[in-house]
Amino acid sequence: MKYTPVGPASRAELRAALLAQYDRAARELPWRADTDPYRILVSEIMLQQTRVETVRRYYGPWLDRFPTIDALASAREDVVLKAWEGLGYYRRARNLHRAARVVRESHGGTIPRTFEGLRGLPGVGEYTAGAVASIAFGAAVPAVDGNVRRVLARLFDAPAPTPAWLRERASELVDPERPGDWNQAVMELGATVCTPRGPRCAACPVAPWCAARAAGTQAERPAPLRKRAVPTSAIALAVIQHRGRLLLEKRPPDGLLAGMWAFPERHLPDDPAEAEERAGTGRPEREAGPDGAPGEEPGRAEALALVRSMGLAVVGEPLPLEPCRHRFTHLEAVYLPWALEVAKCDVVASGEVAWVEAGAPGNRAMPRAQQRVLDSWMRTIGVNTE
Ligand code: ADE
Repeated sequence: MKYTPVGPASRAELRAALLAQYDRAARELPWRADTDPYRILVSEIMLQQTRVETVRRYYGPWLDRFPTIDALASAREDVVLKAWEGLGYYRRARNLHRAARVVRESHGGTIPRTFEGLRGLPGVGEYTAGAVASIAFGAAVPAVDGNVRRVLARLFDAPAPTPAWLRERASELVDPERPGDWNQAVMELGATVCTPRGPRCAACPVAPWCAARAAGTQAERPAPLRKRAVPTSAIALAVIQHRGRLLLEKRPPDGLLAGMWAFPERHLPDDPAEAEERAGTGRPEREAGPDGAPGEEPGRAEALALVRSMGLAVVGEPLPLEPCRHRFTHLEAVYLPWALEVAKCDVVASGEVAWVEAGAPGNRAMPRAQQRVLDSWMRTIGVNTE
């Protein structure tokens, strides 16, 4: 195959080749049939950091629940978080909700049509503004996500492309007639053909223009982004039970998992190496203390102190549940859950609390890691409480 570098003269041919393939073989995704800017915005926010197959399951039900931006703006945050439950990165849901309110209050209920206007909405970064402006409004602006980054790095054989360089290349390539389709076609190519490992160059419509293919460097392009190391935090969770019901607390309106329902938690004193090891190997056996007596199991003292600080009296021995870990953007959490039976179900707490039937936490949105803890409680303890 003859190699033609992508210059101004060959751009039109390259665009035509990729769009022809997109027209022939694009995946049928529910949002592709939509031109309503609100629907496109919802799809693009959901697609941030989440796989297409997962988003497919949430998109329809979300729109049934909140069919318009006004319906979303009018909803309570609790309800919004519940509808997002399972998609993760809940900040996206809170920002989308805020964006709906900003649109209602500052834009007369109409989503801004320009890249800059969109960029001003909560939770809408360069990528999302470009995607919505091009797909919903036909603006000839690029949208560079991880897939597009890889395609461009290979097309131009760039080992370590910077965001500014990527934006420039992507801007030059956007098809002025069909910018929304173009951006989606490049994403699609990255997701289905120009994949991170084992790219299928023989099936690639832009292979004749691909510098990495010509040089045989496609497997090394682009160099992986260095993953930021995040601190590990060990967190004791108190799964407080009273006659088969469990206590949940609503988290504060700001910070990690804001506004969601969770088991009360307390951080252990920081010892990242120890927390790391615990997460890798499961809960350690009790170790002998200095006098040969059993040592304290991690998180037990914190869980007990937490329960007592709520004015509750613990009955019997705390029981350890299966530890689990969850990677947040800035934190690797290692949860150490303890089940504790309490004598009465009154509680002294500053925030909102609820006693819930374990099998049915109701319409309260719970983070995924906490749901796993709940499942572990159901498997090991819940079955014996009746
Ligand atoms: N990833 C993010 N947005 C997308 C879209 N519109 N089509 C396919 N993949 C995507």
